[in-house]
Amino acid sequence: MKNIAVLVSGGGTNLQALIDAQNSGIIKSGRIVAVVSSKAGAYALERAKRAGIETAVISKKEEGENYSHAMTEFMKARHIDLIVLAGFLSILDGELLHEYRDRIINIHPSLIPSFCGDGFYGLRVHQAALDYGVKVTGATVHFVNEIVDGGKIIMQKAVYIDPSDTAETLQRRVMEEAEWVILPRAVEMVCGGELETKN
Ligand code: GAR
Repeated sequence: MKNIAVLVSGGGTNLQALIDAQNSGIIKSGRIVAVVSSKAGAYALERAKRAGIETAVISKKEEGENYSHAMTEFMKARHIDLIVLAGFLSILDGELLHEYRDRIINIHPSLIPSFCGDGFYGLRVHQAALDYGVKVTGATVHFVNEIVDGGKIIMQKAVYIDPSDTAETLQRRVMEEAEWVILPRAVEMVCGGELETKN
């Protein structure tokens, strides 16, 4: 059984999908032992507490240069095997990426390599897809390395864009049809060793 830490920054609907998947048995090779938020007050922390999961706030702003080390120490102290970024909006670097190489995964709300990289997060991703005029978008789960949204792809799911979509309606549909489906599956794949984890 792998120990999972989930990193969050906001509402935590992807965290909720992971908690639900754990309860329903979709995730059976790992369990969420900690939820770390980049900021206090994130609603995701309430979801974690409700599920009886340990919570912490580790912020880049407060930790400064010690941030990556503080994160690494937190993970090591809890024997974390897999770190899942679920709506986590800080960029990771340094010691944590080195220590947890091939053991950090992220969900991104587009079909990488479209609409990704620095500055593409949350609603901005969906607005960019609408502005470009693509007819299909989706979500991607990938390994995290030094390149923002540049690690090896684990799973993707496509979602059709409706002519009447706004960034908000598109975000919601991409979450429902893609993110909440593929993130739990990818977590189980990685925890269950179904995947070659070399990045
Ligand atoms: C999700 O759509 C997630 O894919 C996205 O932020 C949202 C968080 O929602 N992540 C990124 O844009 C990362 N680049 P949630 O807090 O309800 O899971």
